[in-house]
Amino acid sequence: MTFLFNSDPVRGQIFADAFAASLPDVAFSMDPATVDPDAVRYLLTWTVPKDLERYRNLEVLFSIGAGVDQFPLDQLPDSLQVVRMVEDGIVRMMQEYVTLSVLAVHRNLPAYLSQQQRAEWRILPVRQASERRVGVLGLGMLGTAVLDSLRPFGFPLLGWSRSPRSIDGVTCYSGTETLDTFLAQCDVLICLLPLTPETRGLLDARLFATLPAGASLVHVGRGPQLDQAALLAALDSGHLASAVLDVTDPEPLPPDHPLWSHPRVLITPHIASVTQPVTAAQAVIANIRRHQAGEAMVGRIDRQRGY
Ligand code: NDP
Ligand code: OXD
Repeated sequence: MTFLFNSDPVRGQIFADAFAASLPDVAFSMDPATVDPDAVRYLLTWTVPKDLERYRNLEVLFSIGAGVDQFPLDQLPDSLQVVRMVEDGIVRMMQEYVTLSVLAVHRNLPAYLSQQQRAEWRILPVRQASERRVGVLGLGMLGTAVLDSLRPFGFPLLGWSRSPRSIDGVTCYSGTETLDTFLAQCDVLICLLPLTPETRGLLDARLFATLPAGASLVHVGRGPQLDQAALLAALDSGHLASAVLDVTDPEPLPPDHPLWSHPRVLITPHIASVTQPVTAAQAVIANIRRHQAGEAMVGRIDRQRGY
């Protein structure tokens, strides 16, 4: 029985060492050219290889990232279980990135950075954290983790998900019918939704108009969830104060895209969270053990729901 690692060899070596130490009964390969395709039961990859059908006995497809929107879920064999990455490194890095971004927009960092470009020493009005409501779209592994990190600052916290959730100190909303009520209270909106047909294009002109005047966006979900032209229009009209974007469509943005040079936009190249190989290898090994014991794997996605 073989585990095929289809990603960069540096991270692969860390996985190989962890498998040798903790799961010696599963052979580990990083080489599709020499692996016996019939022996491959587990595949870890970012994208699905074109020749996936050669792995006739494949049981589990592991995503090396937290998202699975890069997989053509409707074209995979029904019997194949698909598992996203649930590991501490991704969670911790997302907590850092979102906390950094919320504090940046809360303390006017985008405006101060552009003032600095002009050598302009000008004090902008300050709001207290208790007066800045922060809402998170998506209350899964990452949404709930970033709410935990934001709690100590004293921001009133809100969240929105598909099914009802109850989180200590967070006003939770669920379902499309509550979206506008939620949005109308978000001075900072964080997007941590998976990309699905329902969430594609969700961050549009209508959504921005529903946010309070002066609101900011922190987008760490997926680029196609955002209508970038609508964001630019909402920033230029003055309705939105600022945006922090870790994901765009396309990635990278073309060099002449107006978002690059917008004075109230901060852009990073999809680095909010990066799978950490040491913790990820342990998470995958634990899931293989669960699978072999007939137990549910952590992060197994619902193929119909798309996440
Ligand atoms: P989870 O699957 O744990 O959580 C997803 C959340 O979104 C759930 O609360 C779910 O609701 C909610 N949701 C999904 N669809 C809808 C909908 N139509 N309406 C309302 N709520 C919805 O995902 P994670 O927290 O692990 O990750 C979220 C996303 O973050 C990833 O899919 C990926 O796109 C992005 N990401 C970005 C990274 C980066 O570096 N920028 C790194 C890692 C992830 P419910 O609870 O009811 O199921
Ligand atoms: C992920 C990502 O899904 O990096 O892990 O976006």
